[in-house]
Amino acid sequence: RSRAARITSDLGVEALKPSKQDITKKSFPPGFVFGAGTSSYQIEGAWNEDGKGPSIWDHYCHTYPDKIKFRHNGDVAVNSYHMYEEDVKMLKAMGMGAYRGNAPRWGKSSGYQLLQQPYQQLLENGIKPYVTLFHWETPQALEDEYRSFLSPRIVNDFKDFAEVCFKNFGDRVKHWITFNEPYVFCCNAYGIGKHAPGRCSPGNPCAVPTGDSLAEPYQAGHNLLLAHAEAARLYKKKYQEHQEGQIGIALVSMGYEPFDKTNHVHSQARDRSIDHNLGWFLEPLYRGDYPFSMRSLIRDRLPNFTPEEKAKLQGSYDMLGLNYYTSRFSRHVDYSPLYSPTQYKDDAYAEVGIIGADGQHIGEDTGTGWLCYYPEGLKNLLMVIRDRYGNPPIYITENGVGDQDEGDLSMDNAVNDDVRLNYLNDHIAVVKESIDMGSKVRGHFTWSLLDNFEWQNGFTHRFGLIYVDYNDNLKRHMKNSAKWFSKFNGVDK
Ligand code: NOJ
Repeated sequence: RSRAARITSDLGVEALKPSKQDITKKSFPPGFVFGAGTSSYQIEGAWNEDGKGPSIWDHYCHTYPDKIKFRHNGDVAVNSYHMYEEDVKMLKAMGMGAYRGNAPRWGKSSGYQLLQQPYQQLLENGIKPYVTLFHWETPQALEDEYRSFLSPRIVNDFKDFAEVCFKNFGDRVKHWITFNEPYVFCCNAYGIGKHAPGRCSPGNPCAVPTGDSLAEPYQAGHNLLLAHAEAARLYKKKYQEHQEGQIGIALVSMGYEPFDKTNHVHSQARDRSIDHNLGWFLEPLYRGDYPFSMRSLIRDRLPNFTPEEKAKLQGSYDMLGLNYYTSRFSRHVDYSPLYSPTQYKDDAYAEVGIIGADGQHIGEDTGTGWLCYYPEGLKNLLMVIRDRYGNPPIYITENGVGDQDEGDLSMDNAVNDDVRLNYLNDHIAVVKESIDMGSKVRGHFTWSLLDNFEWQNGFTHRFGLIYVDYNDNLKRHMKNSAKWFSKFNGVDK
């Protein structure tokens, strides 16, 4: 049994049950894509090669090494910059039709030529690239010059970078994702100081508060939304017609359930939790402004959009990326302190947790402490998007689980990843159910293709379908879940 299952039993909760439904790629509509995802800082390494300047993650890991588990960093990561051929082979062996990653890296002054090769390799193997322009790696130069996302100057700089990508790669890339998980970026990097650039609002649990105010996460989010809108507008005006591609954004959300279903106050708290996570970014893109509940709770810390900005935001996407991992119970809290531990908690006037009113867990822990198995939560979110947000085409841009490994997980146990396999099977089954209920999901990307650098957790959380041997030259090995995908996709019958 894998370590994830063991941890689960130690907590006194049943191990994950075998999956209920047998499902294959054939159960999905034609054109539906299955793929796997990664991001540059987490896998590439080559942090200062071929004209690449430092990003905020290079700077953060080098300047504050103790902020990362075991002082790990992404200098070498899993060396995909040099080992991409291996990685493409693995995608192919699993029968994946798509790959989500990011390239080129923002702040790289040259080296575009070198990137032609990985694209070539993907396309020759029939694998479609889905490119994320921003997966949390702001160039450090922009952070030094004007505090990057805290300034509206980021809007034009991001737009210029996006244009370089459209121009150089738009003939081959037909799916662009501007930003990855603005929610996590804003909260972790500007609210609780856990991600680069490590800013922490006063009152939050950081050793040294470095942010100026509790408004920072909202300012960063605001500028990010405007940067998305400008880049998407440029693409639509200048490139879309002849390149025939699509553009969107990847939002993350937990699913939420009322702490006590029989109490309508908790149902309202559940709705507010959705507003403050998914709605924070989706509502401006859909309707041109933040959710009403955010306006009324966050007040003057939440910036305003001008009428022109609202018009630019509205409908600025052809497709929506949704990253889904897990869910929480949500309940009303009756106080509104000036500030307190985490900005998501108090600004939502809702408290979230994994145990409900009847003492039940929202779902079994899969191994890393925060990620509980609850496929229903994905369906609920897809229904919210169907019913409240105009039912756009959706890609599940991330979905998966990590195994905790602090050097004590054997390769055998890691490769025998039934927890991951069942999790993926059951979430994919729920996607199918949601499509049958009218949701327009067009693809599913497992996070992640490979074990990799999991931000503040260093290399201690393994999310890969492919095992990376950190003790033997970063060699790649298929886990059972990867072999399962070969069957699922019809490569290995
Ligand atoms: C979301 C992020 O986009 C990704 O970078 C991260 O590794 C996964 N979640 C797992 O935590």
